[in-house]
Amino acid sequence: MTEPLALYIHWPFCASKCPYCDFNSHVREAGVDHARFRDALRRELAFEAARVAATARTVSGRRPLASIFFGGGTPSLMEPQTVALLIEDAYAHFDAVPDIEITLEANPTSVEIGKLREFRAAGINRASLGVQSLDVAALRFLGRRHDVGEAIAALEAAREIFPRLSFDLIYARPGQSEASWRSELRQALALAADHLSLYQLTIEPGTRFATQYARGDFALPQEDDAARMYEATAEEARRFGLLPYEVSNYAKPGAESRHNLAYWRYGDYLGIGPGAHQRLLTDGVMLATRRHRGPEEWAMRVEQSGHAIVEETELSPRDRGREALLMGLRLTEGVDPARIEARSGLSFLDTIDPMMLTACLDEEYLEWQGPRLVATSQGRVRLDAMLPALLR
Ligand SMILES: C[S@@+](CC[C@H](N)C(=O)[O-])C[C@H]1O[C@@H](n2cnc3c(N)ncnc32)[C@H](O)[C@@H]1O
Ligand code: SF4
Repeated sequence: MTEPLALYIHWPFCASKCPYCDFNSHVREAGVDHARFRDALRRELAFEAARVAATARTVSGRRPLASIFFGGGTPSLMEPQTVALLIEDAYAHFDAVPDIEITLEANPTSVEIGKLREFRAAGINRASLGVQSLDVAALRFLGRRHDVGEAIAALEAAREIFPRLSFDLIYARPGQSEASWRSELRQALALAADHLSLYQLTIEPGTRFATQYARGDFALPQEDDAARMYEATAEEARRFGLLPYEVSNYAKPGAESRHNLAYWRYGDYLGIGPGAHQRLLTDGVMLATRRHRGPEEWAMRVEQSGHAIVEETELSPRDRGREALLMGLRLTEGVDPARIEARSGLSFLDTIDPMMLTACLDEEYLEWQGPRLVATSQGRVRLDAMLPALLR
């Protein structure tokens, strides 16, 4: 059966760089050439769509498309017309499923709140707002450009405009206690719609926070405290009917992000734009594709040759099995060995170290739930340490 595709489109620009962020995002004081980036995104999408069409095994000759995700960077800084054109293009290139999910990440500043209706008119049916915190001092620490009032105004406006809405918060911040996080989270849950992404602050190499942290400017909560905050997060979210379905994601049943589920279930996805990644399984061959990260260099290459691919490799069955497990064990539903075998072309027991599997089952970090292998809540907080040892 032909799997539906997920389409990711990257907008690489932000109004300023947040000190914790290592996403492929850039600030352009002199402004962004919107027409140039619009044309280049459309061209690279057309290039990939033609490659997909050449191998589509469907009656229409087109692959079904289940989701589009505009990520960044700050895609809410895009011109709504660009978003509209890219969605139109996607509908022309692929067979959109009737309930296609089309998400746009937005920052909750007043500039962007003003554009939300236009994004809705462009075809966006799900917004994901980068609220990050509902605490004024924390927003300042995180280098955000919005205040608490703007965040709340953005959430209220977005709830009116979009059928589906998520927002992001960052917790386990310096000096944060479990009690203060619980109270901030309760306030957030009262504003929430059907989905939340709740991330623990991580220090990413090369960021401003990495330098400040190394200098001792601030400390992070102890591991035990962070683990307690993680448990508290699921407990509070559950009370509001939002269930954890991935390490950092909580949703009402049925409101899980279909786009992100495609990554975690190791489905096929296209990634368009600077630095975007792509995985496509065609006739037993899985290609991993990566594009140039620098926005202007990316645009130049697309203008010259229709794409800005810098690397395209065929993944071995072992690599595929590893990736599928790495992604799938993040999910509360865990992994289905039959699916891993279908996507990797390798027997499940060849992707996993049997001694480590037994050890993780004995420690109750992993468990079998019927045919599925699932990380327990104890296991999920240890995933990063556990997975490298578990994978063959
Ligand atoms: C691409 S950004 C979201 C888009 C948008 N530009 C914004 O900032 O609102 C994805 C999310 O990852 C989270 N994030 C990024 N870096 C992080 C870090 N070092 N620790 C924890 N969460 C992080 C933030 O919550 C952020 O909203
Ligand atoms: S967190 Fe969002 S706004 Fe901040 S630099 Fe990263 S992508 Fe840009």
